[in-house]
Amino acid sequence: MSFLATSISNIKPSPTIAVSMKAAELKSQGKDIISLSMGEPDFDTPDNIKQAAIEAIKRGDTKYTAVDGTATLKKAIIAKFKRENSLEYKPSEIIVSTGAKQVIYNALIASINQDDEVIIPAPYWVSYPDMVLLAGGKPVIVESSEKNNFKISPSSLAEKITPKTKWLILNSPSNPTGSCYCDKELKALAEVLLRHPQIYVLTDDIYEHLIFDGLKFATIAQIEPRLKERTLVVNGVSKAYSMTGWRIGFAGGPEKLIKAMAMIQSQSTSSPCSISQAASVEALNGVQDYITMSKKIFEKRRDMMVAMLNKIDGINCNKPNGAFYVFPSCQGLFGKKTSAGKTIENDNDFASYLLEEALVAVVPGIAFGASGFFRISYAASEEFLQNAMQRISDACKKLK
Ligand SMILES: Cc1ncc(COP(=O)(O)O)c(C=O)c1O
Repeated sequence: MSFLATSISNIKPSPTIAVSMKAAELKSQGKDIISLSMGEPDFDTPDNIKQAAIEAIKRGDTKYTAVDGTATLKKAIIAKFKRENSLEYKPSEIIVSTGAKQVIYNALIASINQDDEVIIPAPYWVSYPDMVLLAGGKPVIVESSEKNNFKISPSSLAEKITPKTKWLILNSPSNPTGSCYCDKELKALAEVLLRHPQIYVLTDDIYEHLIFDGLKFATIAQIEPRLKERTLVVNGVSKAYSMTGWRIGFAGGPEKLIKAMAMIQSQSTSSPCSISQAASVEALNGVQDYITMSKKIFEKRRDMMVAMLNKIDGINCNKPNGAFYVFPSCQGLFGKKTSAGKTIENDNDFASYLLEEALVAVVPGIAFGASGFFRISYAASEEFLQNAMQRISDACKKLK
């Protein structure tokens, strides 16, 4: 009998991290690898935020804080939810954790009993299904199509609901597709959920501020206030303020759930980092210029990437409205042979080929539950991206 828990055999390491590690390994062997696999902005954390952290250290804010976050940060989060999402919360309805990742993990561990079902639209962020499995639940995947910009329809959601459904996870703008649900689409999904009062919604709004084409971000509890009492609104500072390493995420939600999540946190990691919390207060309350600047740059890169990808024979790329990813199809290249005589049969083969031939790391769509596609993160400089695209284009031309 294995020493390790059976739950471990059900999960796998994050495939995006695995690709990045493989790329790093090749780099350390002296190969000139361009990695477009990471999900973090390439900009530095803004100076006012860094300064707030330095001041926190000098002030001696270097001890444990309240497990679920400092009163000051909770106040800033409450103000953020009101200002940007028209959602009102009390401090007891807010939790701060070590990244949005821990918020989501806590929520699932706090609520899932053996075999409870969690509906996850595909393509999905790699961690959702594995976290559900770790919690003892069953991920139920709803497929979406490229034709529908990778968004699920109310009828496809309704089809997957059973008496065991506990959660629906929504993520808009999406990792990996960059797709965004508009008000009308969220309203239509909410209509289905209103018919099933046992289902909670976990909405992962981490890419909220990266939304383009003049679209306005919307979150489901704002669009349908009747759902607010069973919605966990997850957000954080990682992507919005280029603070991935600071590890601060937060959520607003029903008090009973938040309390249970805080209890798990109290018995696992305790409070999030005191210094990062002080920095996050400045991120949320301070000047918001960084958001406007980064959004503008990401939108320009998105346009460039989509145009360049669509010039490559065999590749087709939808134009996503948000985040910093594109999710093109590589199906037009299936069946072609590499110069070494290997046939490209799927997105895994294609991603491996790009890594070996073009020395460019991308993540195959299968990692996100959507084979036939691959994810490129364009959180990199324009020059870097142009170089990578030239290499991808040259490698694709060599396929016969
Ligand atoms: C969709 C999505 N949710 C959550 C996270 C986790 O963010 P954090 O850095 O706050 O843990 C990520 C990070 O890649 C993400 O892409």
